[in-house]
Amino acid sequence: MKVIGCLGRKGGSGKTMTAHLLAHGLAKAYGVYTNLVMTDVREDMPLNISPYRDYYISAISNKDAQTDSAELDRIFTQTARNPDSILIIDGGANRANVDRAFARFCDMVMIPVGYGKEDIQVAQSDFWNIVRAMKDANTRADVCIIRNRWPGAGRERDRVMAKPWVRDFLEKSEMVPMLFPDFIPDMPSLLDMANSDNPKTTPLIDAVSARFAEVVAMKIGFELPPRRKLVPYPHLSRLHGEEAAA
Ligand SMILES: Nc1ncnc2c1ncn2[C@@H]1O[C@H](COP(=O)(O)OP(=O)(O)OP(=O)(O)O)[C@@H](O)[C@H]1O
Ligand SMILES: [Mg+2]
Repeated sequence: MKVIGCLGRKGGSGKTMTAHLLAHGLAKAYGVYTNLVMTDVREDMPLNISPYRDYYISAISNKDAQTDSAELDRIFTQTARNPDSILIIDGGANRANVDRAFARFCDMVMIPVGYGKEDIQVAQSDFWNIVRAMKDANTRADVCIIRNRWPGAGRERDRVMAKPWVRDFLEKSEMVPMLFPDFIPDMPSLLDMANSDNPKTTPLIDAVSARFAEVVAMKIGFELPPRRKLVPYPHLSRLHGEEAAA
């Protein structure tokens, strides 16, 4: 089992969305047994397959440190029964201490960040906070900041890249490797992914999440099973069936 934490103090940075996008890519494109554990919803939810998703979802109650660790422990043990599984921890905002505690369980920690000045400052400070926690605990994980909702091309990208704090951040991350190589684009269709009980995914989301899963797997040395074949749309298979019959 490998454990990946989507953490960081900044509210709304995309922790939950990143966690779901990764889970979706691992489970749908590669059939990996994936469990996403929510840690900030104030309810205790046993490991359960979601009827509308390809991965499992569970939650710890976010009550107190002792209850939470006991619940997290149980979910760890349950997930680890499948050695080829991935557990994804969806963190909560403004919980630096909880983040430090979770990080010690992780093989990889991802800190999503927007391009605002404060977002970048907070993410960098989270990065060092978590790196220090790992060092203190003598554990090793790949800690990285992942750009979320950054423009990929065009004038908007130029505008963002010209901001002094963005330039400074990118320069720094060339000296200290802290940046996840890919960024997650701003996709309105992703709004659903984290917040809806019945998220609609699109072929674009499938493609972006599969690519995301590949890069993460490569970084943590997790061998992905072969990519699943895309199931053709029913009307297309009918068409092919008719062709074959003719
Ligand atoms: N790349 C994206 N494209 C479009 N919408 C996004 C993207 N990333 C996040 N969002 C949306 O932004 C909002 C905040 O994201 P999310 O809930 O994942 O943040 P969070 O870090 O988990 O927040 P919190 O700290 O409150 O837990 C959500 O409505 C989410 O759907
Ligand atoms: Mg969240």
